[in-house]
Amino acid sequence: MGFAILNGKIIDRSEAKVDVEDRGYQFGDGVYEVIRVYNGKMFTAAEHLERFVKSSDSIGISLPYKTEELSALLEELIEKNNLELGIIYMQLTRGVSPRNHAFPIAKVAPALTAYTKEFERPVESMKTGVKTILTEDIRWLRCDIKSLNLLGNLLAKQKAAEAGCFEAILHRDENVTEGSSSNIYIVKNGVVITHESNNLILKGITKDVILELCLANNIPVEERTFTLEELASAEEVFLSSTTSEVMPIVGIDNKKVIEGQPGPVTKTLQKLFQQEIENQCGKLN
Ligand code: PDD
Repeated sequence: MGFAILNGKIIDRSEAKVDVEDRGYQFGDGVYEVIRVYNGKMFTAAEHLERFVKSSDSIGISLPYKTEELSALLEELIEKNNLELGIIYMQLTRGVSPRNHAFPIAKVAPALTAYTKEFERPVESMKTGVKTILTEDIRWLRCDIKSLNLLGNLLAKQKAAEAGCFEAILHRDENVTEGSSSNIYIVKNGVVITHESNNLILKGITKDVILELCLANNIPVEERTFTLEELASAEEVFLSSTTSEVMPIVGIDNKKVIEGQPGPVTKTLQKLFQQEIENQCGKLN
């Protein structure tokens, strides 16, 4: 099981216990991050920590550590768990307090937990692409906060899983927002199009890297809302996330995207993304 972080200390994971009245457990009153680890090094750690602070600030929880302290603690956790290839899961809740919807009046210490998990790169799916379904986005209007409240995302992902698919693409009326746990992109006339980072989607760290790679490599890109009709007639469709990197989408609701093969722009971005990982974390096998 290895080691975990509980409130600033690294302890045996089997001893990391949370109270039944932790507000994260009862209300989903907290925020989280998933950080990728390659070659024992965190990828885009500063960006994830920055988003963690932003998410927690936006719901009025203040991180009880400096981000540099937290970063050092996460590095120590990776080392103690001998993690080479995997993820760190980290969450911060408002803490333990008698159940009441309103925030505790007494000062309560926010509860930080983190652990690591081994996780391979999805190399096979990145070559073949994945299938998806379309489903309505029934979530709240602050999807920019990486909140522990994920029921809308979970129900969508479960629908995809039951259809034998990897991801659910969400839409609000005619507009595509994002995936249940990823950002969604289409390619039209060679232009990469993805939803602007506003309250309706999570501003993916992977998305930010991809947009920078597009700019640096003269791949035209537009951050704007796109419709279901544009999705259906796209040349290429792909998704991105910390665990999926740049993942081609080859099917949507049993219909093939073009020839059911990953497209050229997607493949170029996969290569550029891998180079960026290697720049930060060293050569990948
Ligand atoms: N999910 N949109 C949603 C709703 C997400 O849950 C995620 C990530 C993303 C992509 O963000 P990033 O590139 O920063 O991973 C977009 C994580 C990995 C998860 O919940 O496991």
